[in-house]
Amino acid sequence: MAVSPARAVALEILLRVEREDSYAAELLHSPHLTKLSSRDHGLATELVMGVLRWQSLLDRRLAAASSQKLERLDGEVLAALRLGVYQLLFLSKVPARAAIFESVELVKAARKRSAAPFVNAVLRKVAGAGAEDILAEIGKSPDSITLAQNAAHPPWLVARWAGHYGFEATRQICIQDQTVPGAAIHIHDNESDAELAAAGVQLSPGRLLSAARRILSGDVTGTRAYQEGRVSIQDEASQLVALLVGRGEKILDCCAAPGSKTALLARRSPRAKVFATELHPHRARLLQNLNRLPNVHVVAADARHLPFSLSFTFDRILADVPCSGTGTLARNPEIKWRLKAEDLRDLQLRQVAILKSALAQLAIGGRLVYSTCSLEREENEAVVEAALDGTAEFKVADFKGELEQLRQSGELCFELSGKDTASLLAGPYLRTIPGVHPCDGFFAAMIERR
Ligand SMILES: C[S@@+](CC[C@H](N)C(=O)[O-])C[C@H]1O[C@@H](n2cnc3c(N)ncnc32)[C@H](O)[C@@H]1O
Repeated sequence: MAVSPARAVALEILLRVEREDSYAAELLHSPHLTKLSSRDHGLATELVMGVLRWQSLLDRRLAAASSQKLERLDGEVLAALRLGVYQLLFLSKVPARAAIFESVELVKAARKRSAAPFVNAVLRKVAGAGAEDILAEIGKSPDSITLAQNAAHPPWLVARWAGHYGFEATRQICIQDQTVPGAAIHIHDNESDAELAAAGVQLSPGRLLSAARRILSGDVTGTRAYQEGRVSIQDEASQLVALLVGRGEKILDCCAAPGSKTALLARRSPRAKVFATELHPHRARLLQNLNRLPNVHVVAADARHLPFSLSFTFDRILADVPCSGTGTLARNPEIKWRLKAEDLRDLQLRQVAILKSALAQLAIGGRLVYSTCSLEREENEAVVEAALDGTAEFKVADFKGELEQLRQSGELCFELSGKDTASLLAGPYLRTIPGVHPCDGFFAAMIERR
């Protein structure tokens, strides 16, 4: 009997995430998935993201029910088991017998027919064990180790966040990471609200920014406003980082693809020349296709060796560097299983090189914003310190005044139970924390050239 299309797609994507280091969010938007009905696409998304979010917890349940070590199982068998146990524990609308049957059929379809009785037996055992309230367990976790276990995070990551942000903030981060994140958009003009409403897209106001909206329902990507670039899908913290770059005349966005910040910079300074560099040619092409604004010039180039002479300077630069992405785990849960502590050192070396190269193009009196979507100090404060070490030419400026200006202009509308913009700051830096703030975890530093 044929397996359901959503589960077949979910299995295929989970295998590619594991074997090719691909990102699930990108695979779920592959063109060949347009053949799925929107219901099946929704279920495939739920299954893939759910399995990746809860992977370590699912594996513990499976290990307790399995006669074989999970490491010894074929990839297809383990993925089918994870899909089964995820449905048993988290999808109350899927009857247990259907979840078990589908996983058995999945291994048969993957030519692992001999594993079918094993999958059936393991999942039956898990189904019989009963479920506890998993989210309540996260709330009750008394220490980092238990929290990591209950919230399906690697213990080393939770321990370092607890040391840096405190235990309660870390609990909030973990809860947020285990939640399906909402989508936000940026509205670049006054007409798009009405246009989106007419197209059946339901929105609520932004929680950080007045030009942001939260999508409640509907397909934004099918609207003219989106296709013409008058609306961008972009997390509110990412929008805020672009706003903090400010307006300029000659702007460089040196790690630019896919280009949501480029679009915001270019639309805010329509008379500016905006240069957008991106290392990977295919991503530079994507940026070009998504960004057809007349003042944006896309260049495929390595930001560590920018293709401009040193006399060609910019009054505004954004260095939104490649990073671990630990501030976006709700959207990219596979990152937490891939990342190792030692990777942070390699990332840091690359980030320092990009930042130093970008600083060399900054005009006197100009402003550079360095940003990441990482929660790790190595990729944030430590990069800024390393890049500025021993230079008197550059100084870190405080974002406090900028945030106050954005509040006064009405662009920043954030209220956190009576706290002011200070909660968005860590010293002179911008610091948003998922679960604490209504957005992804972003870091930004503002550097000025004297
Ligand atoms: C965090 S993403 C940028 C997101 C983008 N600013 C936005 O808001 O849409 C980092 C980008 O930098 C690119 N990249 C990585 N290394 C780079 C380098 N050495 N020079 C330029 N771009 C680089 C990556 O391919 C990726 O597209």
